[in-house]
Amino acid sequence: MPTKEDVIQALKSVVDPELGVDIVSLGMVKDVSTEGDTIKVTLELTTPACPFRSQLKGNVESVLKRLAGVSEVKVDVVARVAPARTEDGILPGVKNIIAIASGKGGVGKSTLAVNVGLALSETGASVGILDADIYGPTIPKILRIKIGPASVGNKIVPAISYNGIKVMSIGFLLQDEEPVIWRGPLVTNAIRQFLTQVEWGELDYLIVDLPPGTGDASLTLAQSIPLTGVVIVSTPQDAALRIATKALNMFRKLNVEIIGIVENMSYFVCPNCGHISEIFGRGGVKAACERLGTRFLGEVPLSPDIRVNGDLGNPVIIAAPKSESTEAFRRIAYAIASSVSVITYKRKGMGGGS
Ligand SMILES: Nc1ncnc2c1ncn2[C@@H]1O[C@H](COP(=O)(O)OP(=O)(O)O)[C@@H](O)[C@H]1O
Ligand SMILES: [Mg+2]
Repeated sequence: MPTKEDVIQALKSVVDPELGVDIVSLGMVKDVSTEGDTIKVTLELTTPACPFRSQLKGNVESVLKRLAGVSEVKVDVVARVAPARTEDGILPGVKNIIAIASGKGGVGKSTLAVNVGLALSETGASVGILDADIYGPTIPKILRIKIGPASVGNKIVPAISYNGIKVMSIGFLLQDEEPVIWRGPLVTNAIRQFLTQVEWGELDYLIVDLPPGTGDASLTLAQSIPLTGVVIVSTPQDAALRIATKALNMFRKLNVEIIGIVENMSYFVCPNCGHISEIFGRGGVKAACERLGTRFLGEVPLSPDIRVNGDLGNPVIIAAPKSESTEAFRRIAYAIASSVSVITYKRKGMGGGS
């Protein structure tokens, strides 16, 4: 029967596909025990939304079963999200802040923010959404939140939505139809106030829906919030892509890590015959990602269930959990989560984090 050391030695041959580093060196192997002809191992993932969960578990099992004298292998998979952030003082309980941005409005930025947040929370991650789009704060509508946040003393308690996600919107501070004339310092102060006064508690991921474009507001916001990285949303058309590229370059200049780009409204599946129409020219974003040296995070179909349910305050992940649209959002959420783990790992390597 192999010893604990034999088990650990054997597990050094299992490599995390994203980092290219073995799982023992990454500290993912916990609680190794052997009893009779049974080995028990706990595998700790860096995110519960890990796209390689079953692949890694399967590899651990097959490597250990090959050891002489072993007849049973029990692998317990757990997850603990590591904080990407350094001690900047604000929001110590929030491990990762992910911004969602776009070159222009109407490309599905808020829809993505909500569905990705819900997909992450389904896996067991604790998630918050900050609606920081001062031009069109639509998150409360998409999540059908009618009442604003409660305040307790000088703290603001966020609204709670589906799957227990915590939601705060800059819209709660605006009167209906009030023209937004907020500029630099005002926006910065309001956002700082959100970040410091809102009781987010412990969060694995805080998703921030930024205003569209590369104007004053997005720029100021991106600089006021300690972001782990930014996800850019674009539709496949040339024009949309050019504008998205401009946004990407702005974030690069600001030294904000680019997590990757999502292609929304990629293709349309006819609900009657199932025929796929590539209305706006599917695949444009993927090609652009290669050119720009950034990660392609996936595509979302143009689908009536996304619009109808979103407009009714019932996001597609909740309304149609088995649909193709939902699966698309899940794949993107897992790709984002694993990219964020990689960013965290690299920052630690450079002595940035704890
Ligand atoms: N993939 C999609 N299929 C169908 N409708 C979509 C899709 N993505 C977004 N929409 C719809 O398009 C409109 C704009 O989306 P929204 O998320 O509000 O964009 P943004 O936040 O970028 O302005 C909304 O009515 C939304 O329901
Ligand atoms: Mg929006």
